[in-house]
Amino acid sequence: MCGIIGFTGKLEAQDILLDGLEKLEYRGYDSAGIAYFKENKGKISTRKTAGKVKDLRAICDDNESTCGIGHTRWATHGGVTNANAHPHKCGNVALIHNGIIENYHELVSSYDLGKDLISETDTEVAAALFNKLYDGENPIEAIKKAVPLFKGSFAFCIMFKNKPGIIYAVRNVSPMVAATCEEGSFIASDLTAFIQYSKKYFIVPEYTILTMTESGITLTDLDGTNVEPEFLEVNWDITAAQKDGYPTFMLKEINEQPDAITRTITPRIADGLPDFSADNIPDSLFENCRDITIVACGTAMYAGMVGKSLMQEMLGIPVTVAIASEFRYEHPVITEDSLVIVVSQSGETIDTLEALRLAKTRTQKTLAIVNVKGSTIARESNYVLYTHAGPEIAVASTKAYTVQTAAFYLIACKLGLIQDKISKDEAHEFIGNLQNVSNNITEVLKLSENVERLTKRMLNASNTFFIGRGIDYTLSMEGALKLKEISYIHAEAYAAGELKHGTIALISEGVPVIALATQSHVYSKVISNIREVKARGAYVILLSMDENITDSSICDTFISLPKVPDRFAIFEAVIILQMIAYFTSVGKGLNADQPRNLAKSVTVE
Ligand code: M6R
Repeated sequence: MCGIIGFTGKLEAQDILLDGLEKLEYRGYDSAGIAYFKENKGKISTRKTAGKVKDLRAICDDNESTCGIGHTRWATHGGVTNANAHPHKCGNVALIHNGIIENYHELVSSYDLGKDLISETDTEVAAALFNKLYDGENPIEAIKKAVPLFKGSFAFCIMFKNKPGIIYAVRNVSPMVAATCEEGSFIASDLTAFIQYSKKYFIVPEYTILTMTESGITLTDLDGTNVEPEFLEVNWDITAAQKDGYPTFMLKEINEQPDAITRTITPRIADGLPDFSADNIPDSLFENCRDITIVACGTAMYAGMVGKSLMQEMLGIPVTVAIASEFRYEHPVITEDSLVIVVSQSGETIDTLEALRLAKTRTQKTLAIVNVKGSTIARESNYVLYTHAGPEIAVASTKAYTVQTAAFYLIACKLGLIQDKISKDEAHEFIGNLQNVSNNITEVLKLSENVERLTKRMLNASNTFFIGRGIDYTLSMEGALKLKEISYIHAEAYAAGELKHGTIALISEGVPVIALATQSHVYSKVISNIREVKARGAYVILLSMDENITDSSICDTFISLPKVPDRFAIFEAVIILQMIAYFTSVGKGLNADQPRNLAKSVTVE
């Protein structure tokens, strides 16, 4: 969490920092701040405030520097106050930080830093420590001494008062990318902050000290040895990270799903069958695999649940889904024949990363489904299947979910073929259906006005329920998460058959129930469950491909989905659920892109 940016070069820094922070705001938006060398001399000025980057912009007027650092915060230690906002200054040092310094209490007492502190943050302790260890001459020596003392995760950009024009940076776990170009040197949590200046960049290696000047960046490890960065190039440009005429990123990203799915599956299909050779994923990964564990958080985990439902049915082998933050503590049963699939849009979610690290101690069959190229999870997994959703900026994940799910469909089909669970003909038919998904979604997107209208009914709700059976139940969980996250309405997902064991007591007159009935093998049973809530006064919004069930004893509002084989209905239904959440949020006057208390990339445990 938290977004950081640094620039030193030929241009005014302030605009670059503020524009960059706006692009990083999805990482946290509790407070924002910048620091810069006043008139490019040995004095560091700061501007910071609780609130968003627009609030910071309103108090920035000083365009006299070509070197500075900026931060947008997701609060961990200390409340949302001006004093806790970054940058933090102490003596000769000003710095910004993404991560958590876990041993900051011990550092305060061991190095007697207490008298220097005015905020409640762990970050200010780091500033005080760098300052204490700085001899006034050699910043790199101070960084070399301080870095091994920190426990936890960190990405720091540091300025030393008597070194105008220079930014130092170092990281452990928390992401940072950097670039040099004609205009100067850039560093940020994420490429979107400076992609308009450079498409060529490198991932800052862990425990490497960067010295950034107008003319370039040098890297040295903690022993002082020079390090050569490995340059990467992105294949998308700034327009992919802009709203492109849409009022919000979320609506744009919902509408991008047909293209995102096509981009993700097309390079993995050869002669109508799944083919991962361009990803360097060998068939041996799927041979002898006796069980599968899927680990992820939030929406990525719900995509994993769809994967489980599909693979267990197609392959007849045990598939487990684990919440990444629980995985390490629940004594997971992983052997060398287990395939562990981790799923992450950002590739930086710390719980998922730590789960992957544990899994790798037990099996070399780890596969990451990741959207962000070169991210930590992608680099550390034995194999990686990149989804090609393009940048996902809205905090609520939409297109990442459908491309992750599509990736599971490819994997399930590949496993089915390799393990002789499906025939080639069946695989061809399956892949054909997957290739139709983008067009089907395009049809569903045309229903947006109807969905917007029906959400008027949701605006005053304080409780809602999402119900379904089988794969529809997994989808209900995603629908409920989306609604909670951006509309702040309490939403519960329930396996439809489980309601009568307790939860149905919560159904009273007018409570919205979003019911999914797309699976024929449990169809009559789910319809009975829907009747049960309807009979108790629920306001039922029903999603189904069966147009014969629109009568008022079952539902109040019916949304007809295009007819597709059961297994593929999920792609259509989720679009409706995303739109229900989106229009409810917007209808309530909320910021759908930046819901309260959240951040896009969760890099704290
Ligand atoms: O980047 P990741 O896919 O690892 O993120 C996982 C979750 O934090 C994420 O899906 C979260 O649940 C979304 N905000 C849900 O919309």
